[in-house]
Amino acid sequence: MIDVLLGLQWGDEGKGKIVDYLAAKYDIIARFQGGPNAGHTLYVKGEKVVLHTIPSGVFHTHCLNLIGNGVVIDPVTLQKELEKIGPLCPDLYKNLFVSQKAHLILPSHRALDAASETSKGADKIGSTLKGIGPAYMDKTGRNGLRIGDILSKNFKEKYDKLVAKHTQLLRQYDTIPDWQAWEAPFFEAVEKIRLLNIVNAEYWLDGHMKNGKKVLAEGAQGSMLDIDFGTYPFVTSSNTIAAGVCNGLGVAPARVGEVYGITKAYCTRVGGGPFPTELNEATGEALRAAGAEFGATTGRPRRCGWIDLVALKYAVMLSGVTKLIVTKTDVLDTFGEIKAAVAYTVDGVETNELPFDLCDGEVVPVYKAFSGWEKPVGACKTYDELPVSFKEYCKFVENYLETKIGYISNGTGRDQLLIIE
Ligand code: GDP
Ligand code: IMO
Ligand code: MG
Repeated sequence: MIDVLLGLQWGDEGKGKIVDYLAAKYDIIARFQGGPNAGHTLYVKGEKVVLHTIPSGVFHTHCLNLIGNGVVIDPVTLQKELEKIGPLCPDLYKNLFVSQKAHLILPSHRALDAASETSKGADKIGSTLKGIGPAYMDKTGRNGLRIGDILSKNFKEKYDKLVAKHTQLLRQYDTIPDWQAWEAPFFEAVEKIRLLNIVNAEYWLDGHMKNGKKVLAEGAQGSMLDIDFGTYPFVTSSNTIAAGVCNGLGVAPARVGEVYGITKAYCTRVGGGPFPTELNEATGEALRAAGAEFGATTGRPRRCGWIDLVALKYAVMLSGVTKLIVTKTDVLDTFGEIKAAVAYTVDGVETNELPFDLCDGEVVPVYKAFSGWEKPVGACKTYDELPVSFKEYCKFVENYLETKIGYISNGTGRDQLLIIE
């Protein structure tokens, strides 16, 4: 069986922390999509670590970790990450496995990402500029290079052929970074990545599952950044919903068990694009300050707003979420009033559905207000200890989403997680 853990909003819901906690119950943690655009934060022996490509089970010595075929890998970022966490992870190289079918991010992909974003001006996506879009474009365009290719004698030839295409494409842009300077570090990193456990991952995973091993698929980004169902075109280039697990790892749908969906108790977004419940005033600023809402990958300030139950219900539907996890509840401790969007009015008409294009027409959230708890929930060790108004808020969210909350995160610490039986 394979369980899944996904972000239900626009990313940064706290997936890293929760996977790190859940990893104790699993034998294998597998990333199935995304790439170094992800930034998953966890604390190991009190030290803050941000993972970009490596699964968040890596600090548990009993866990094997797989980077699946659906992930796009930048050898330079991966190599840096390996070097950084090496001292904290004695079995790192023994326990890490990489699918030979995962696609590579080349320096020229990063250049294309940057050039394309610059050319869009005010309409830019707000990409992390890690080369994600161009790498997935080459994958679907059937031009891409895969991890398996770095083992080939002809790798340089294949690389040159693809780069020649990119050079042509780059000519259309006025502003191009000096990407040739990134090539030497790329080839150095490729030499190191070549030494990792590169496997025929779908067979590898099938074998482990047949032997009764428990697998947790770790999502990156969030459901509203999904290439098909997110706020297109302000999305990432992969399927971030549960369906992405099957083609991102090569597992059959019938093998998928529990689907954990994570949401913050409020909402954030980094980069451009629609965000109906965004608060562009003091309350938004207060959320950013209390939640330390700055990107784990780019350091950009995250846009903040109230929880959006309309978007969340859509995400729960798309992935068949069986258990909710609500994080960063402690961030709301000081707010006298808390709001949740329960519907939208789109051009004056009320709806519970996400419109085709959130940028087209005026989308105004309809809010339900709750009184805040104004107590530090971070100190609570059990669900029963939580303030009544906090529980009322949680009950409302559960009822609206028709899904039970299984865990409540009330602080950054590994132990700040309340389990609801
Ligand atoms: P991810 O991308 O989903 O793994 O999330 P990020 O790591 O990008 O961002 C989540 C941030 O919130 C990190 O800095 C976490 O340490 C922090 N965090 C996670 N859970 C909680 C929580 O319950 N309370 C607080 N205050 N911070 C949390
Ligand atoms: P984790 O896994 C938050 C956003 C970017 C941008 C859009 C497209 O940490 O939750 P891309 O680099 O993919 O071309 O950017 O998606 N984005 C994220 N936002 N968390 C992430 O990952 C993100 N990965 C991409 O900010 O708006
Ligand atoms: Mg993140």
